[in-house]
Amino acid sequence: MTKTRLITVLLAVLALLLAGVWYLSENRNTQDAGAQGEVLIGGPFRLVDESGKTVTDEDFRGKFMLVYFGYTYCPDVCPTELQNMTAAMADLGSKASQVVPVFITVDPERDTVQVMSDYVKHFMPGLVGLTGTPEQVASVAKTYRVFFQKVTDEGATGGYSMDHSSIVYLMGPDGRFVEHFGPGTTPQQMAEGIRKYL
Ligand code: NI
Repeated sequence: MTKTRLITVLLAVLALLLAGVWYLSENRNTQDAGAQGEVLIGGPFRLVDESGKTVTDEDFRGKFMLVYFGYTYCPDVCPTELQNMTAAMADLGSKASQVVPVFITVDPERDTVQVMSDYVKHFMPGLVGLTGTPEQVASVAKTYRVFFQKVTDEGATGGYSMDHSSIVYLMGPDGRFVEHFGPGTTPQQMAEGIRKYL
């Protein structure tokens, strides 16, 4: 075997190994999802609502939850998304009674019960605003696979802002994940996406 030929063979073996690793990892992901029979988003939580009452995920059983994570000091993305949710809920008409809109803060330090109470009033009626201890908030964000991170921002109140993912989740009456709506989803598309399940 020439040196060139040997290198070619070694490269071919390496390529096969990489393909195998890729295949196995892809396959494992598929099997994980299949074994559970659902996408693993959401789960148990214990938080405090805008009236100061402790609530858990079980308090929402029997209704759909339309869940969004953000923070009240968010200058643009959160208010826009909450307005979209408000418009989508209005679009659902009387069927909106089957859906509880929920806003969960990723900034419990500034988003106290009082702050949440004032904030949710700017949006749709019935919007539930949830906050909690930093541990409770980190826990619920993790179950929903929501990323958030404090970022130094000298122009902002308190000297920081929050980077966070911006996804609206529709959870079923049994508490399980049903659907998600990414950034750029119009209120009409969101309403259409929700209506399918009502
Ligand atoms: Ni935001």
